[in-house]
Amino acid sequence: MSDAAFVGRYGPVALVTGASSGIGAAFAQQLAEKGMDLVVVARRRQRLDELATRLASEYGVEVSVCEADLSAPDAVSRIADACAALDIGLLVSNAGFGFKGAFDSGDAAQLSEMLMVNCHTPLLLARAFVPRLRQRGRGGLLFTSSVEGLIGCPYSTTYAATKAFVNSLGEGLWAELTPEGISVLTLCPGATDTEAPRLQGIDPATLRNLMSPGEVAALALQNLDNGPVYLPSEHYRASFEQLLAMPRPQALMAMAGSMKK
Ligand SMILES: NC(=O)c1ccc[n+]([C@@H]2O[C@H](COP(=O)([O-])OP(=O)(O)OC[C@H]3O[C@@H](n4cnc5c(N)ncnc54)[C@H](OP(=O)(O)O)[C@@H]3O)[C@@H](O)[C@H]2O)c1
Repeated sequence: MSDAAFVGRYGPVALVTGASSGIGAAFAQQLAEKGMDLVVVARRRQRLDELATRLASEYGVEVSVCEADLSAPDAVSRIADACAALDIGLLVSNAGFGFKGAFDSGDAAQLSEMLMVNCHTPLLLARAFVPRLRQRGRGGLLFTSSVEGLIGCPYSTTYAATKAFVNSLGEGLWAELTPEGISVLTLCPGATDTEAPRLQGIDPATLRNLMSPGEVAALALQNLDNGPVYLPSEHYRASFEQLLAMPRPQALMAMAGSMKK
């Protein structure tokens, strides 16, 4: 699809959560390159301001900054207020985080925060923006999930459960909205070279088959119409096809073995 056709279908404005780093920053960059105006959301205001200034001057697009903590109960209303006067044609619900370790090694407050950021806020954001997309009769919804949402994932149990919620949400919406001309893609990256592995105490150098955030975002945007669920990594496509064909107990024990490494 040409950039002009992309903006015609999904423009004029895309909302991107988690745009201050990693995959979300790559989405913002690539959408601006296509000529989309943006609303960028995250907590780190300075990063968002720098991104907005750079993208506006490099691509001549309008970029609004919305500082919001997506674990806070008022996050969706803050974002909806920031977008009230804008015609949002593409919602990229991308912000998220996880941690690795035994299920009971994370404190309960952290688990609640993960549920808010990874599940509750994406659900309510979709609830806020789907009626607007339906009214336009065109546009898109993109959820950044994870391959870990495709099966229970020992030593990343809560995170995987949050991403299973996202997969189910995205699949249901895909079937509801595709007939109305709205693309819904649930993106399931594998290991990606962002701040996320380091925040979880993982040295990215120890990860094999690592993709760059730019590659992940580019493939997702090219495959917006190839939902419901899309795995950008060939390696993870092949390995999950094998894993999901195994008897479940065996597959879960294989996951436990590989996560422990
Ligand atoms: N990297 C991987 O290997 C990998 C694999 C599969 C899926 N994913 C998924 O990809 C998505 C993007 O992650 P990433 O890899 O790009 O990691 P990242 O570089 O750590 O980016 C995470 C983004 O989410 C935002 N965020 C986190 N908590 C937030 C909160 N409470 N409120 C508002 N924004 C918040 C962060 O912004 P602030 O800190 O500025 O708020 C940041 O912009 C996530 O959903 C993640 O689960 C990543």
